[in-house]
Amino acid sequence: MTASIASPTGATWTIIVAAGSGSRFGGPVPKQFVEVAGRRIVDWSIAAARAVSDGVVVVLPPGGEFGIDHDDMVSSVIGGDSRSESVRRGLAVVPDRADVVLVHDAARPVASIDLFSRVADAVRGGADGVVPSVPVVDTLRSVDGTPVDRSTLVAVQTPQGFAPVALRAAHATRDVATDDATLVTLVGGKVVSVDGERWNLKVTDPDDERVAAVLLSRRA
Ligand code: CTP
Ligand code: MG
Repeated sequence: MTASIASPTGATWTIIVAAGSGSRFGGPVPKQFVEVAGRRIVDWSIAAARAVSDGVVVVLPPGGEFGIDHDDMVSSVIGGDSRSESVRRGLAVVPDRADVVLVHDAARPVASIDLFSRVADAVRGGADGVVPSVPVVDTLRSVDGTPVDRSTLVAVQTPQGFAPVALRAAHATRDVATDDATLVTLVGGKVVSVDGERWNLKVTDPDDERVAAVLLSRRA
């Protein structure tokens, strides 16, 4: 097994969901295949995941050749119509020997290796699920005009980490949500937070791509 800095005691597997269509971003190819600072967005995400993982499963859209470099660490499967279904397809090929499963949005290319490590460590510390979260900096109102106390809220990112038994139980429900921690919570799992990263943005529209380019060009 390839060396991993985060898994001295067991195997860490990472699912990178890259099967979305990027409808808000637009453009001729889904956003995760756009090049930013010399590498495609999905390849930045794979590179960070490789540094902490014993195996990486990249979940891809159907019907294309996406130029993923497969080797003894990286494999790929075809995703589904929802993010949750795409995670399920990836999870189906994660081996039973994994003791931590991380799930990461391909569209978050700025997440650091350190963040991946801290999430995996917190799973090994006993949580069913781990989310990176950051404070909300804007003042908030609900759409009906009611003020919202932002101190009660955080914004949740990926990579998220899970005990495999908890993630498999959550996905056995076939429910759909915008992240996996929500599904683990719904089946009674204990989800804890670690500090996220302010600039771990999810590339959603072309403005985000420009910000990501600035952030990643420092690493290139
Ligand atoms: N994703 C996926 N399978 C889906 C939908 C989303 O693997 N059926 C992935 C996306 O590729 C992305 C991550 O889930 O890496 C987060 O989704 P999002 O940012 O919403 O991407 P898209 O769904 O592709 O974008 P949009 O909602 O604008 O169409
Ligand atoms: Mg989406």
